[in-house]
This record gives sequence, structure tokens and C-alpha cells, in this order.
Amino acid sequence: MVKIQKNPFSFGPVVKEGDYCPRDKEERVIEELLVSGEKVAIVGERRMGKTSLALHILEVKLSRPYVHVDFMGVRDEREAASRILNAISTSRHEFFKFETILKTLGHLKPSVTIGNDGNPSLSFNVKQNEIDESIDSAFKLLKDFCKKEVIVFFDEFQDLLKIEDSNRLFGILRGKIQNLNRIPFLFAGSYRSQMDRIFKDPENPFYNGATVIEVTTIDKKIFYNFTLKKMKGKDIKLSEDTFSKIYDMVYGVLGDVQRFFRTAYLLLEKKSELDDVTCKNILHEIFKYEQTTFQEIMTGSILTTLQRDILRELSVENTNPYSKGFMTKLETTSASGVTRGLNALESKNFIYRYRDEYRFYNPFFKEWIKSQHHIHLNSLF
Ligand SMILES: Nc1ncnc2c1ncn2[C@@H]1O[C@H](COP(=O)(O)OP(=O)(O)O)[C@@H](O)[C@H]1O
Ligand SMILES: [Mg+2]
Repeated sequence: MVKIQKNPFSFGPVVKEGDYCPRDKEERVIEELLVSGEKVAIVGERRMGKTSLALHILEVKLSRPYVHVDFMGVRDEREAASRILNAISTSRHEFFKFETILKTLGHLKPSVTIGNDGNPSLSFNVKQNEIDESIDSAFKLLKDFCKKEVIVFFDEFQDLLKIEDSNRLFGILRGKIQNLNRIPFLFAGSYRSQMDRIFKDPENPFYNGATVIEVTTIDKKIFYNFTLKKMKGKDIKLSEDTFSKIYDMVYGVLGDVQRFFRTAYLLLEKKSELDDVTCKNILHEIFKYEQTTFQEIMTGSILTTLQRDILRELSVENTNPYSKGFMTKLETTSASGVTRGLNALESKNFIYRYRDEYRFYNPFFKEWIKSQHHIHLNSLF
């Protein structure tokens, strides 16, 4: 019987244990701040490993009870309040026993659900007129039962900015957090500029409310060794040079590096070699999953012609979108038109500014555009 091996590369969900590549420096800095009761905000690109890092620190390094509230895509105050309560009720620590929660939050009329393990848990759906009371009760519970031991983790915190009159909610939360004084808080957020609007803008109640730690990629050499070890499962050869090209191609975004090598591991035979030619084939396999979407973007009505042209030119490495050459290629003389186009692409989440360049949120989209339109270029693959 053929033994089916688990693919050792993990992409998508949070990574733990053997799937987690240690990042000692960031772990140490954040751990020290939290231990001394500080509030910390982790800022970094999407899929850079913020949630994995935070949970590794909370579970493995500190081994402290924590509440993990994910605000991703939250639409209004009601939903934000519900997420806080639900995070408390699903936390697996004895502080948050069913009976305790029922006693302190029962007046908010949660519904009882029975989990796969047969245990009951409470789920909250806060009503419009109970928002303030719900948040109040949640923080009371944290204060009364957890003393200094618990750590609260607010993930994708920048999404609260999308809520109407978000400063009201920020104001309430900031007040409550200050009240809990020595309970450490951890925030994580994916968009640098938005996190800055929260922690660095004097208008926001969270101004200077946390020490901001920027999380970028894991060092190339360390991540190469981590990847190579996993390739051993199928005896696949991978040179540091080839690895480096892939890592650079996706700007070192860990989730994307893992996605590439996961696909490679799946497709390659045992004892084969992952060289540049094979890499190109793997890349084309990845394109297959998203081809329809990519084509729709580049031919449909989502973007204007100028926006599409900008994407095409940006897909070529080291292009400065404000240079004369860039404008010439776009056949335009309007610098303000180009700026508007770039801003529109940024707000539609196709690209983001990183230091003095623009990057694609989906680096595979960038490669696909390149493969379609710049075949004449002497590109990496
Ligand atoms: N420390 C790590 N070691 C290995 N892979 C990682 C690590 N952190 C993140 N990844 C990769 O990135 C993906 C996204 O991680 P996640 O923690 O959800 O990132 P973020 O919260 O920044 O969006 C994971 O599924 C995994 O493929
Ligand atoms: Mg995350």
C-alpha cells in the first residue's frame, strides 16, 4: 500500500509546532514587553506571520491564558462587541469556564451551543441597544477573573477603522484598556498606514497606546534551511540560489513562499531537483488556479485602461512609477493621472507602497502579468 505523506508545507492557516519557523529576535522583544505589562502592536504585511508569531508567544513562550479577538472584516459596533464576547467564551482557559461566563454575562442572553467535544459553550449576538453594556461586562469579567495573568490579543485591529464613527468605539476600548492597567494587550494589523492612523495620529484615542513592532520577513538563509529540511521528506534537491529567486519574487512574504514550495512538493517526484526550469513549471501550475480571475481583471471592467497599463509596467522589477521612462511607456504626460491610477489600484487592494516601491498584494499576479505581456524581457524565469 502506498503511504500517503502529509505535505510538510503549510500555507493559509496559522502555523504551529513543526510548521512554525522560529523567529527568535521578534519573539524575544515582544515577550519582554508583554511580561512587563506593556501594550504591543505588531505591524506587518498580510501573510507575513503576525498571528502565528503572536500565538506562538502566547501559547509556547509565555504559556499564559489569552483571549484572541479577530476583527477581520468587522462591519459595525454590534459585531465588534459580539466578537469580543465570543472570543472570551471560546477561550479554552479555566478562567473562562462555562459557569463563570454564564454567571457574569448571562444577562446578555447568549445562546448555548454544544461543541463537537460535547461541551456547552455560549455564543453572543449583541443587540444594538446593548453595545456599551456588553463591552462593559466583557471588560469587567477580564478584570475580576483574570487579575494580571491574562493577555488580550486584538488581531486585524485596523479593520475597526471601517466602522462608522470608529472613534467612538476606539474611545470606549481605550478607556477600558487603561482601566485594566497592568493587563498586557497585543494588537496586530496588516496595513501599515492604517495602523499608523490608530497609534500615531493624535486624533485617535489609541494615539501612543502601544509600542509598535514591525514584523517583516524571516531571514532568507534561515528560511532556506527551514524549507530544505522539509524537502528532505521527498529527497528533493533545492539550491540556495533557486530558493533565493523564489523568495525574492514574492518579496519574502512567508505565506507566499510556503504556497510555492507546497505546490512544488506536491507535484515533484521523489529524488528530483527543483531547478529554475522546474520552478517555472510550478509557477504555471499556480497560475492555473487563478488564471480566470487574473484574466477577468486584465480584460474586464474592474480597472480602467490606464490602471491596467500601470499594473503591466509595475510588474517589471525596479520600475519607478514617477520616472520619465514610466510615463513614456504609459504613453501619457499626465503625472497626476498616474498618481490617481496608483491610488485607485492601492485602494482596490492590488498594490501597496513599500518603502520607495509599489508591490503587488498577490505576487503571483505580478508574475502572471509578466508572463503574458513581457515575454520578450529577460526575466528570472
Ligand atoms: N513562523 C513561520 N514559519 C513558517 N511559515 C510561516 C510562519 N509564519 C507565517 N508563515 C506562513 O505564512 C502564512 C500566514 O501566516 P499568518 O500567521 O496567518 O500571517 P498574518 O497573520 O501575518 O497574515 C502561514 O500559513 C504560513 O504559510
Ligand atoms: Mg493574521
